[in-house]
Amino acid sequence: MSTKVAIVTGSNKGIGLSIVKGLCKRFKGIVYLTSRDETRGRTAVAELNKLGLHPKYHQLDVTDRESVIKFRDHIQEQYGGIDILINNAAIARVTGCYNSYEENKQIVEINYKSILTMQELIFPLVRNNGRILNISSDCGHLSNIKNKYWIDRLSNKNLTLTDINEFVDWFLESCKNGTFKKEDIADNGTVAAYRVAKVALSAITMVQQRELENRNISVNSMHPGLVRTDMTHGVGFYSADEAAETPLYVVLDAPENLKGCYIWYDRRVLDWYDYNADYYFKTATLSKYFASS
Ligand SMILES: NC(=O)c1ccc[n+]([C@@H]2O[C@H](COP(=O)([O-])OP(=O)(O)OC[C@H]3O[C@@H](n4cnc5c(N)ncnc54)[C@H](OP(=O)(O)O)[C@@H]3O)[C@@H](O)[C@H]2O)c1
Repeated sequence: MSTKVAIVTGSNKGIGLSIVKGLCKRFKGIVYLTSRDETRGRTAVAELNKLGLHPKYHQLDVTDRESVIKFRDHIQEQYGGIDILINNAAIARVTGCYNSYEENKQIVEINYKSILTMQELIFPLVRNNGRILNISSDCGHLSNIKNKYWIDRLSNKNLTLTDINEFVDWFLESCKNGTFKKEDIADNGTVAAYRVAKVALSAITMVQQRELENRNISVNSMHPGLVRTDMTHGVGFYSADEAAETPLYVVLDAPENLKGCYIWYDRRVLDWYDYNADYYFKTATLSKYFASS
């Protein structure tokens, strides 16, 4: 029998690091901690070693095609396949609620377009019956989108890659030519690029599930909760270790028929298509956090 392999992208810190920690404790196989920066990644591995945990390490910048190819070749040669893949790497806002075009483009590249590279180069290595989890956000629920044309197009159950790419391009184009309307996105258009990228990520999850169904691979996306990490500048209701519990459940314990779903931090499966729902991220939540802390 071949050695089982689990991989977490962007796992030198935050929720990704906690997922690696949990996998090292529970997964019967090789666990890869990966990072875009080798020093930060190896430092994280050394910290886990002190806890008696021993993940393997490999550099992986999900936006750098050459890096993804090197990683793919390494896994192919060493193990021939992957059993669990967690796409966790992401960035949020760069300077504020309303970023420049360049900043928005960068957010979309890392949080959404990188998934297309992973799909092309890494998904073929995922073995039959494997599990893929895309870490999305409450910003990734369809209710973050308020533009009727895009709600209609994205809520089509036969959604295609073209629909999603055109949605993302529409947003970036509007930032570039100054036609972006705050009312097209929930919460007065705050962190719009992050919302658009995460909506695209949760949407592509459903397309990926359709494509991998015949190999019994599950592909889900999830919102990990508001978590105290560098991304939120330490603001959040949960620690990274607490937030890792549901991703670990999805890839290790969930029933086989959990497929193509949008999962909430408390394991509930939500209706991603419910565009009138109240699941979108609200900046007011941050004020509530400060009031309660
Ligand atoms: N924290 C929350 O409240 C929250 C809420 C909803 C969703 N999420 C999602 O949860 C996931 C983890 O977030 P987090 O809070 O743990 O954030 P974090 O602490 O900022 O960690 C993000 C990780 O992604 C890595 N990364 C960024 N760009 C990369 C690239 N091009 N290639 C490879 N790795 C890259 C970062 O590496 P560097 O150290 O090199 O920057 C870091 O390791 C993300 O998908 C995020 O969107 C978080």
